Amino acid sequence: MKRLTRRQFLQLSGGSAGALFLTACGGGMMNGGMMGSGSDSAELLTPAPTSTLTSHTPQPFSGDVDLDFTLRTTVSQQLLRPGNATSVLRYVGELNQGTDAALTDGPSYLGPTIRVRRGQRVRIRLVNELQAETITHWHGLHLPDEMDGHPRYAIPSGEEYIYEFTVNNRAGTYWYHPHPHGMTGAQVYYGLAGFFIVDEEKQSYGLPHAEFDVPLVIQDRTFAADNQLTYVSDMHQVMQGFWADTILVNGQLDYRHEVATRPYRLRLLNGSNARVYKLAWDDESPITVIGSDGGLLARPVEKPYVLLSPGERVEVWRDFGRNQLNDQPKLVALPLSGANNSTFDIMTFDVTRAEQVDQPLPTAFAPLDWLDPATAVNADNPRTFDFFVNHMTPTIDGRQFEMNEVADDEIVKLNTTELWRVTNVGNGANGFPHPVHIHGNQFQVLERSGTPTEVAQGYVDEGWKDTVLLMPDETATLLMRFSDHAGMFVYHCHNLEHEDGGMMRNYRIDA
Ligand code: C2O
Ligand code: CU
Ligand code: CU
Repeated sequence: MKRLTRRQFLQLSGGSAGALFLTACGGGMMNGGMMGSGSDSAELLTPAPTSTLTSHTPQPFSGDVDLDFTLRTTVSQQLLRPGNATSVLRYVGELNQGTDAALTDGPSYLGPTIRVRRGQRVRIRLVNELQAETITHWHGLHLPDEMDGHPRYAIPSGEEYIYEFTVNNRAGTYWYHPHPHGMTGAQVYYGLAGFFIVDEEKQSYGLPHAEFDVPLVIQDRTFAADNQLTYVSDMHQVMQGFWADTILVNGQLDYRHEVATRPYRLRLLNGSNARVYKLAWDDESPITVIGSDGGLLARPVEKPYVLLSPGERVEVWRDFGRNQLNDQPKLVALPLSGANNSTFDIMTFDVTRAEQVDQPLPTAFAPLDWLDPATAVNADNPRTFDFFVNHMTPTIDGRQFEMNEVADDEIVKLNTTELWRVTNVGNGANGFPHPVHIHGNQFQVLERSGTPTEVAQGYVDEGWKDTVLLMPDETATLLMRFSDHAGMFVYHCHNLEHEDGGMMRNYRIDA
């Protein structure tokens, strides 16, 4: 293991994120851009003066695209609570080419919902109207290096980054959010995020679609008395990640959704910075899960509850036909040690319409094309990465993020399959949950160990994943193949305060 002492770390890093943590806990002022102080959030929430665009076009397509839109990062005002409007950041989309259904306004402060199909060619013109730098990452998509939104591609205020890529993922629920190093947490928290949905080729499984296919993003926020959002303010919040006190779904408080007595497909995304949810139905019926990060499972599975950590998605089938008119079934979060002591509401469904539909739950979806662990080039010797907090510094194996560096043990070969063993053992049972996310490729969770019994039945490891939650003391063995795209990508904790604090590293795929 490459565990480093704090002194070794300080000698090696030279990075600013470590300095941020150490400064902050030394009782000094918080520095590092957007971490918390009032004046920093004031700057983040002030639009940049308009200027002429400098454009970055890494790999221009020849020929036509199916969808072309502009995505501007803007400052905006949103009515979230009675009284003053809340200053937020918002992605605003403008369709340049393509069908209206491909780009629909997101609810509240959320960015537009993008709906595409596999094989479609997409051009996205990201225009940075913030004063801060930004870059957008397409979470879960399998893309070339320059299209993935690595922090080293962050663009300054007033500039434009043109993404062009072919969608090559399984149908599923993906999302997008900023990824500038050290500022991802603040930019997401103040509102920058949206859904990126890859639809099935045809409705061949008889799944609910159109208005019966409902994307739902769960987030937590803390409001000051004047209705403005407050972010990280003390070291403890940085250490454990920012757990806010108020739940929003689709950017709205006390969220309610009207349904008919029929089946629905619910696409749940945990878009919170750090909060982990143990989701359940309040009527104690099991949760029928049909999909995870990388699309549909091979078949539906039933869980008593579902653990959903930041970045993860789960698709749920719910037949409200089992309800009576005027029922109000709720999605709730159950107590979880280290997170919350009591049950609280996530959202309510209002059953307001009777409808007779014969739409049975499919018994199976397409097979998953699992990889064979025996074909891993390191089948006998998995690559190991431990996510732990080293003397108040969030690290992976004691190392922190370095913008352009990869270590020898972070280089893999294109077109090979590998086992990665990711662990959260460095802080023992007193650690923090770490949702481990790997850019570029979906993986399988082969096995876990050290799983606390209070969560064991709530993991959805049956499908393709890009984010895997590790509770304290837990280890997961992942199997993945590095295909199509060589380049440098990141892997990190999706607790955004941990990520910004340096619990992120590059890995490189060499051709
Ligand atoms: Cu959703 Cu690198 O993150
Ligand atoms: Cu990602
Ligand atoms: Cu973490």
